[in-house]
Amino acid sequence: MTAADFDESESFIPEQELSRARENPLVFQRLGEILADTGIALALRFRALFTLKYLGGEQAALAIEKGFADQSALLRHELAYVLGQLKQQCSLPILTQIVDDSTEDEIVRHEAGEALAAIGDPSSFAILRKYAPGGEGALAGAPQPLVDTCELAVARLEYDALCMPGGPLAGEAAVAAAARSPGPDGAPAEQPFLTIDPAPPCYFADRAAGRPAKTIPELRERLLDASLPLFDRYRALFSLRDLSVAPSNASAAAAAAESAGPIAQATAAREAEEAAQQSREAAVLAICAGLQAPCSALLRHEVAFVLGQICSPISVPALIASLQDEAEHPMVRHESAETLGSIGTPEVKEILEKFQLDHAEVVQESCQVALDMCENEDINIFNYAEIARAANSA
Ligand SMILES: [Fe+2]
Ligand SMILES: [Fe+2]
Repeated sequence: MTAADFDESESFIPEQELSRARENPLVFQRLGEILADTGIALALRFRALFTLKYLGGEQAALAIEKGFADQSALLRHELAYVLGQLKQQCSLPILTQIVDDSTEDEIVRHEAGEALAAIGDPSSFAILRKYAPGGEGALAGAPQPLVDTCELAVARLEYDALCMPGGPLAGEAAVAAAARSPGPDGAPAEQPFLTIDPAPPCYFADRAAGRPAKTIPELRERLLDASLPLFDRYRALFSLRDLSVAPSNASAAAAAAESAGPIAQATAAREAEEAAQQSREAAVLAICAGLQAPCSALLRHEVAFVLGQICSPISVPALIASLQDEAEHPMVRHESAETLGSIGTPEVKEILEKFQLDHAEVVQESCQVALDMCENEDINIFNYAEIARAANSA
């Protein structure tokens, strides 16, 4: 998967035009054709995929399925990721088939397993348990990233079942819903990331239980602790991600200093903003430490993905080190490359150009896509005119 999946692009195409595009089957047909056309540059085909994700719905999911015949494991894994994010029941058979296909690339199988968990249908338990630790597929030697994915996916489905109304974790579900809603006066939601994640942040659990939230050093420790279940390490990761964009309480600090006069108010607000910025940077650096986390390439690739959601320039050195490490699993290096592409600072381009020649094909292709992201900042989906043109040419 790549972090550049543009949840933040909600206003990119006016809603009225988006509705028209969604009502036109030719749009989906043509985007599906672009996606499946091996004569077209991979980066452009990725844009067709992201446009389908943006349009959403069953027609998009069915158009995406057509791309699975492609040679590129990078593209196939991205198709699986997007199908998970689209949450369409019609995708369950193909995703199940991919997880169970021992001839398929492990990165694609991993992403299909994660997509089944994202769709969250209880019928997926059987295949996910087959490849989770102790399952028949895992015991038969399935690749470790797939086994780790299925461990996490089963934990996620079990967690979701406990969060149902009346269930023992219904309180956590309420905290999660509140965290995703905008604050008073239109303030941004505490949990601003719209992706369907493999695990919920652990502050949901702390808050529901009335416990103090874990500190950044505590979360870092959990992220790096290989003795903990992967689900708990992921929960720490997503908590750190949310802390990395937490707003300051500058206005509250200024209000508290109101009686001391305007200069004291301005100072209080500035100090609160500086403290918040330091805390955000500490959260990013704690996540960066996860790029060296022991015992799970799957976890490290998720760390690289999360850094792509945050897009902080201070993560660039850690990401470059990850991409340069030829002993690292290609799925981690791939994710680091794409995240570097979405950060796009000047030093990134040179390193991505170099690794376009990497020995691992998935890394080579990721660098091509990442360079396209650097060069086409903010236009990673087709705009409406391009979609309409594509449909008219179908
Ligand atoms: Fe990926
Ligand atoms: Fe992945």
